[in-house]
Amino acid sequence: MIWDTHAHLDDLVYKEDFLEVVERMKSAGISRMTNVGYDLPSSERSVKLAQDYDFIYAAIGVHPHNAEEANDDTWERLLELVKKSKVLAWGEIGLDYYRDLSPRLIQKEVFIQQIKLANEVGLPIVIHNRDAHQDVLEIIKTTPPQYGGIFHCYSGSWEMAKVLLNMGFYLSFAGPVTYKNARQTVEVAKQAPLDRILVETDSPYLTPEPRRGKRNEPTYVVEIVHKIAEIRNASFEDIAEQTMRNAKTIFKSN
Ligand code: NI
Repeated sequence: MIWDTHAHLDDLVYKEDFLEVVERMKSAGISRMTNVGYDLPSSERSVKLAQDYDFIYAAIGVHPHNAEEANDDTWERLLELVKKSKVLAWGEIGLDYYRDLSPRLIQKEVFIQQIKLANEVGLPIVIHNRDAHQDVLEIIKTTPPQYGGIFHCYSGSWEMAKVLLNMGFYLSFAGPVTYKNARQTVEVAKQAPLDRILVETDSPYLTPEPRRGKRNEPTYVVEIVHKIAEIRNASFEDIAEQTMRNAKTIFKSN
């Protein structure tokens, strides 16, 4: 049993074969999946999926790419969505200085605003951080998430990981940990305490080896579990079981 803690199955690329994707996932033992929003419509779709499928849970929020579109109405409607059942986290939120699709000042304001909202409603946050380590650190130090958080697709150094682990964050690993040039990520996956790591696919993106470059789907989270088991010299079952337990802890789910 594995929990894919981050996927976007509401994406249009699954329109034709959604049910087959779900069937494959269930037969592969992926018993839970968190569908993550990145703006208001995708957050609404995530909640709808969580209502329609017992093994799907939802996270809602505005991604830094979409920060510029967010306004008071967005927050009001997200706060309404939070009241629905199976909304387990606020995200994905954060900073993306790689693509810079929204102005950095607005990205920061929207990130801070959403940490405050998550604190208000008692949810952990899901953090997207790309090339923005210093500013993300500064924000989570000055506005700490009170219900914890996950660094989704962790890609930073072990030095930064230690700081985040000391602050209580969870680190989630995706396809990149299976890539050939992943020395730094492998190092973190090896050193991080076993009770603080999670696995995810970020479907339809970041497809793990050996299918890198093709469309991703939750089933392939087994490749991440395999890789972490190999890195840590542990069994597949141990990593699956422990990451499931960790997901249940951070998402406060039984
Ligand atoms: Ni994502």
